[in-house]
Parts: sequence; structure tokens; C-alpha cells
Amino acid sequence: MARHLITSAIPYINGIKHLGNLVGSQLPADLFARYQRARGNEVLFLCATDEHGTPAELAAAKAGKPVAEYCAEMHEIQAEIAKGFRLSFDHFGRSSSPQNHRLTQHFAGVLAERGLIREVSETQMYSPTDGRFLPDRYIEGTCPNCGFEDARGDQCDNCTKQLDPVDLINPRSVISGATDLEMRETKHLYLCQSQMKDELEAWIDSKTDWPVLTTSIAKKWLNDGDGLQDRGITRDLDWGIPVKKGTEDWPGMEGKVFYVWFDAPIEYIACAQEWVEAGKGADWERWWRTDKGAEDVTYTQFMGKDNVPFHTLSFPATILGSGEPWKLVDYIKSFNYLNYDGGQFSTSRGRGVFMDQALEILPADYWRWWLLSHAPESSDSEFTWENFQASVNKDLADVLGNFASRVTKFCRSKFGEAVPEGGAYGDLETKLITALTEKVREYETHMSANEVRKAATALRAAWVLGNEYLQEAAPWSTFKTDPEAAAMQIRLALNLIRLYAVISAPFIPDASAQLLTALAADGEAWPDDVAAALETLPAGHGFVVPEVTFRKITDAEREDWQARFAGRRD
Ligand code: 2FM
Ligand code: ZN
Repeated sequence: MARHLITSAIPYINGIKHLGNLVGSQLPADLFARYQRARGNEVLFLCATDEHGTPAELAAAKAGKPVAEYCAEMHEIQAEIAKGFRLSFDHFGRSSSPQNHRLTQHFAGVLAERGLIREVSETQMYSPTDGRFLPDRYIEGTCPNCGFEDARGDQCDNCTKQLDPVDLINPRSVISGATDLEMRETKHLYLCQSQMKDELEAWIDSKTDWPVLTTSIAKKWLNDGDGLQDRGITRDLDWGIPVKKGTEDWPGMEGKVFYVWFDAPIEYIACAQEWVEAGKGADWERWWRTDKGAEDVTYTQFMGKDNVPFHTLSFPATILGSGEPWKLVDYIKSFNYLNYDGGQFSTSRGRGVFMDQALEILPADYWRWWLLSHAPESSDSEFTWENFQASVNKDLADVLGNFASRVTKFCRSKFGEAVPEGGAYGDLETKLITALTEKVREYETHMSANEVRKAATALRAAWVLGNEYLQEAAPWSTFKTDPEAAAMQIRLALNLIRLYAVISAPFIPDASAQLLTALAADGEAWPDDVAAALETLPAGHGFVVPEVTFRKITDAEREDWQARFAGRRD
């Protein structure tokens, strides 16, 4: 039995994510986790909320809540939505957990001991009124480029120019509106990534099986000059993990916290500790410590392309730099962006479908199928309502759903609600089994390699084979002349529904469970031997006709949704 550690990039706490976020990390990670479990492997699948940083503080302020309270509430909301999409995390943790506090401080302490952290003096805007240093996004003022009065310290939203807060005319504090801002000297910690360039490069070069997207981004950052510069890992914020050297105070760092991108990936490890703490597991070290059994774990990470530099360079620098036996990632699956109906998803303008809204209009499987079968792997892809409607109506309703419904209804009307006996297979059945075996093997290959779209194509092709068989065998005609043969055809087809339910479960878990329940079958056995799998349900085995597995999307619904999600949400 192989052991798979699987993590999805941890979503920011502020706000509900859109479908583009979902398909870029959590959903394909879930597909892989479900597949590995179905193949009998041991899986630890982790995700969490990414709770620190300025956006979390600002969102809490906007909601008029203390940031800890805001994060606790939003965590519950995100956890519920994840359940709605059937994301099968073994634990959904929080980067603000005590475990992550301890572990992040531990890493910083060890890195400092090994000479990989240096202190840098900088001047930064200080607000005497607020009694704190202000990060870029906490300062607004007039853009020196276009005169826009509400330009942010890091960028002008009007002319898009990248700014430094000192460039702003009449700068003011976002917190209090105070204008008596002054430049003050402050110290920050930098992680000396540049010292580790050779080690990181050798490690990345050893990963010859990584997707091109992952490797090309990693290489670009490694060699671009500004790529592997030392990184500031502290910030002047209230909310976050206090800067400490292990358990000791860090002189000169009082009142500062670690930068969100320093502590977020460490949460992958802390999350396993939270999983044990929550009583769901006994031992996190056998997943994460190579001196405690993790050397035979395969670790796969899932993320959108914007996250790749942090996972190929910064986090490995933390792990390798510690000199401790932590498990390093084996495979990084990254994704391009999903666009929305001729433009981009926009959280600020509410353009596109957000995870909560998606579940309000259709069950999870509809979305899971479309998103995964159109995953932006080799390039960006686009969600359009026309394409969504066509995929659902054709693949799910006409091909898979209709097969299950025709076969079970025909059986009920001619033989009753139990698998009929029938005679021996003929040529058509042998041909079907050969073709199906080939497709199932192809599907397995793509699923193991995380080729999401190719896996979906192979799965759809396997469904189509069943329909083609049914058309050719035509049990409704056979029945008139040879009821024995028709019974055999239906026995095979009923078993085929079970096989489909088993192999489709990673993509569409609810539909799969519904079909298995109707067939009074369990989903345990993977069809290693397709012919044998098609004999699982014996003659006499009772079943019921399932409720509609997938319904069609009407043109009126499509038009309604298209208008509704064009962008109004605030
Ligand atoms: O892009 C994002 O949504 C980040 N919150 C991902 C963090 S992944 C990791 F570092 F934990
Ligand atoms: Zn401007």
C-alpha cells in the first residue's frame, strides 16, 4: 500500500472563493485524494484557511469585527462550503492555530541559528496617531502619476502604476485618516534565500517529471536576477504570528509578526498536528518527518500558478535551510487560470460564480464534472454558460444518467427489480470488455499522473462504450426473440452501472453513491479485472430504479444565470 500526503494551497480567509480558485487547487487535490483512496492507498489530505496578512485585517475591519472573531466565522463558512463540494479533507485547519504559531517560531529560530536570517534596517511610514507602522495597503493618498485621490500605498487603482507609499501626495492612514505620518527606522528579518540558490536549483533539476508549468515558473524566478533575492519575512501588523526565536523573544522584533507567506506553507505541517490534536489521527510525524517513517510517503501539492514561486523556492528554502529531516514535496501540480465568460472572475466586482452561489443553483457534482473536465492545465480556460450547459446535458444527463435510467427501468419492466440470470456472453460482450479494459487502464494512467482533463476524457469514453453497447445489443429488441440473451445483456449492463459508479466516484461522488445505493452495492472494489468486476452483482441481486441522476439545464435557466452572475455582488 502506497502512502500519499496531499495538500491543496490554503485559501485566504477573507471572502468566499470563486470557481476559478476551486479548480486551481482544492478540487483537483480532492480528485487525486479520492482516487488514491479508491485504489486502496493510504492518504492524508490536508487543507486550511490562510488567516494572516493585511487583507484579513482589512476585511475584518470592513466587517466591523475583531480579526480573530472574523477569521473564526469565515473559517466555519469556508469549511461548510468545502463540505458542500464534497472536498474530502482529512482535516481543514487554520494557519492561526497554536500549532502553526509554535512551528513557525521554531523554523525561524532554527534558520537564525544556521545563519540564514539577517536583520535589515529600513525606514517605513509610522503613524503616531495609530501608534504603529503602516504597511503599504494601510496608506492612501493622491497618485503622483494621475492625480487620483484614493491611490493605495502599493498601487494606484486608477492608472495601475505601482507605487511606494513615500510617492503619495498627502498620504493618510487608512485606519484613522491621520495625516501626521512620518518616516521612522524599523528593523525586519530577511530569509537568506540567495545563499541557497545552488541547493534549490539542484533540487528542482532533479524533478524531471514535474509539469512544465511548474518547472518553468520555478526556473524563471531562480534565474531572473530578482528571483532569488533574500525575502523579508516579518511585518508590522497586529494580527499574525509574533516574531520569536523558537520559544524565546527576539530582541528588536517586539510587536512584529511573521509575513503571511512565511507561515502559510508551514501550516501544511501544523495542519497534520491539528489533525492529531482533533483526534482524527495518531501520528503526524510518519507523514512529515523522514526520520520517523515519511521517507516512503509521496507528497503532492496542488496550486494555482501564482503560488508556484512560494512552493518551489521560498518554502523549500525554509525546509532545506532548517537542516532538519522534514519531508519535501515530490510533485507540484500547478494550474493556469480559469476565466469567466469573456473576462476574468472578479471578487471585488462579484463577476462570476462563487462557491456558495454555485451550490445554491446546482448540486456539487455538476460543477465538479465541468470544472475538472475543463481544468486549466496546459493553458488558461474559460467558463461559459453555453459550454457548461452542453457538458452537463450531454456527458452527465444523456450519456451516464440516461444509461443508468434506461437499463434499470427496462429491467424492472421485463424482469423485475433483481438482476436477471440470462445465458453466456457473445461477441458483442467480449468486444465491450476488451474496449472497456483498455479505457479503464488509460483512465488509471491519467489519474495517477494527475492529468485531469485526459482522465475526464477517458472516463467519458468509458461511459460512451456502455451506450454504444446498449444501442448495438438492443435488449428491447432481443427480448422479443430471445429473452435469455436479453437477460444476459441486462445483467451485464446493471453490472456496468456499478463499475461506472466505482470509477466515477473521484469526479462525481454523490451521483456515484446514489447509483451504488440503488444497486444495493458497495463501492469498495476497484475494477482491476474488468471482466470479473462485471460479474459482481449476481443473478437475483435486488436493486431499485434510481431517482434522476442528472437533470438537464434548460435554456431559460442558462440565460437567467448568465445575467445573474455578470457582476453586481459587492
Ligand atoms: O493564493 C492563496 O490563496 C494563498 N492563500 C495560498 C497559500 S498556499 C500555502 F502557502 F499555504
Ligand atoms: Zn494613478
